[in-house]
Amino acid sequence: MPGRIPENILDDILARVDIVEIISGFLPLKKAGRNFKACCPFHHEKTASFMVSPDRQIYHCFGCGESGNAFKFLMRYERLDFPEAVEVLARKVGVVLPRDETPGPKSSGISTQMYRINELAANFYSANLNLPAGLKAKEYLLKRGVRPEIISALKLGFAPDNWDGLLNYLRSKGVSLGFLEKAGLAIAKDSGGFYDRFRNRIIFPIFDIKGRVLGFGARVLDNSLPKYVNSPETAVYTKRKNLYGFNLAKDGIRENDFVVIVEGYLDFILPFQEGLKNITASLGTALTIEQARFLKRYTHNVVMVYDADTAGELATLRSLDIFIEEEMSVRVVSLPKGLDPDSFVRQEGIGAFKEKIACAESLFDYKLKILKSRYNPKEIEGRAKLSGLMLETIARFKNAILKSEYLKKLAQELNLKEEALLEEIKKVKTEKMHAEPQGLPVRKTHNTNPTEKLLMSLMLEESDLINRIRETLSPRDFQDERISRVVSIMFNLVDQGKAIEPQILMNHLGDDVLELVSESVFLTQNAPASEAHREKVVCDCIQRMKNEKIKLERQRLHEQIKVAQAVGDEELLSRLTEEFHCLIKKKAG
Ligand code: UTP
Ligand code: MN
Repeated sequence: MPGRIPENILDDILARVDIVEIISGFLPLKKAGRNFKACCPFHHEKTASFMVSPDRQIYHCFGCGESGNAFKFLMRYERLDFPEAVEVLARKVGVVLPRDETPGPKSSGISTQMYRINELAANFYSANLNLPAGLKAKEYLLKRGVRPEIISALKLGFAPDNWDGLLNYLRSKGVSLGFLEKAGLAIAKDSGGFYDRFRNRIIFPIFDIKGRVLGFGARVLDNSLPKYVNSPETAVYTKRKNLYGFNLAKDGIRENDFVVIVEGYLDFILPFQEGLKNITASLGTALTIEQARFLKRYTHNVVMVYDADTAGELATLRSLDIFIEEEMSVRVVSLPKGLDPDSFVRQEGIGAFKEKIACAESLFDYKLKILKSRYNPKEIEGRAKLSGLMLETIARFKNAILKSEYLKKLAQELNLKEEALLEEIKKVKTEKMHAEPQGLPVRKTHNTNPTEKLLMSLMLEESDLINRIRETLSPRDFQDERISRVVSIMFNLVDQGKAIEPQILMNHLGDDVLELVSESVFLTQNAPASEAHREKVVCDCIQRMKNEKIKLERQRLHEQIKVAQAVGDEELLSRLTEEFHCLIKKKAG
């Protein structure tokens, strides 16, 4: 966490925020006892294991382990960095943040710096478009029907035909070249030094919803390859999470309550410029679960528009099942051969394009049509193959009525018995199609010591206990390294005269221990103990830990004694034996 926002202000914000209210702004929360629950927004699941505690003001997912306080939720869900999340909540509850005294890159987080550098780069590229060197790029765009208004709305630009145009410009602005590389704008040479990633190309900045520049796509002016060079993944740019043009189209998407998704930069630009305001582009990759969930906040209705050549690919069709899983409606348009949305609009006009969209087929009809052209439904084998592939989609419907209606429809279409399909659909594994790539880290299962864990959760429940425990135990006595860290931070907070509230404690913890803490909180909350019982549990735990400590010490001495015997160090041996006896007495006493 950044040092620049004073801790008392963070505490103050947390004290005023209600995490239930914050999270229910994004997901529907259902009351469940004293907590609230929902299906976890951070991993795919069918039954709710995401819990929010109004008492402790934290959340925890028992499925994937994602957990934290209100700041953490916003960081994860809205992809903000810590200062941004703080800012959002501060504004919400009316806490005034102290002004940053030392503005500039050094004082802010890495993503803030990166946004700033991307912005500078976008300015540089866009200015180039109006310089003599950029003339051919401007002409290219105009020739393709891209009008000046949209060039400036999308801040299109040109990267000059040399190796250090951007480098020199940003160097003059005081940007370090190493940072330029981190931002994906420069590439390191083997021989040392750097060169511009984008050269002699038209530049398409990629914006996020707030209009910040995340990265760039860059197209050649002729037929050379590769046609596009794109920013690599950086601290601020994750390809699978973004949609091109969304920042301009979001209101249009809300108003129309559906979104048209196309593949390329220009496939977005031409239709948008001609008046289709609810359009966005996936940039040539298969749709991801993140993109689907993001869109779902604006509309549940999707129309995918494909060029004829991609439209029939099975992989393309499969990626649409994501929308079914997300309980969104998806329809498909495939354009005549040789045309993409950009050329279609230029050739046939926006009216014809809108008509195509209005006549989009449901995913079911569309997929069946494509499959029928590949597998012969008159042959038994063909029908089996076909139904198998259709069932992959149907199996993803969560709604039982939709599922059974589509099964009925498929049975009719293929002239099959519904019972046979029902039998088959049971075999379809709805394994995670989206495979949550790098998304969900493989959960490490730590073997936490139950006594230590119990003691930690008791301390989390009752700050008074901390002082007592501290008289007998030190953080080092906790064998589990993570628990030891949490305990040490709790001790520090108590030193500062603070009460231990999980949500405040979390501001001081690394991501790797959040789960441990929130899980403890939720579990002890579910099994409250009486005063007397708790007292006994505490004493037991402390005693067990002391015993454990002695046992470990004994083991250690035992090992050392063996070594001393082996090397024949009499002096050491007698000292160790002495220690050993003391230890045994201590335990007895
Ligand atoms: P297309 O090849 O359909 O290009 O790729 P396009 O967008 O229609 O471009 P024009 O009309 O030829 O100018 C669709 C999208 O796939 C990504 C780009 O995002 C592109 O817009 N792509 C394509 C790449 O990232 N790299 C490539 O080499 C090609
Ligand atoms: Mn094209």
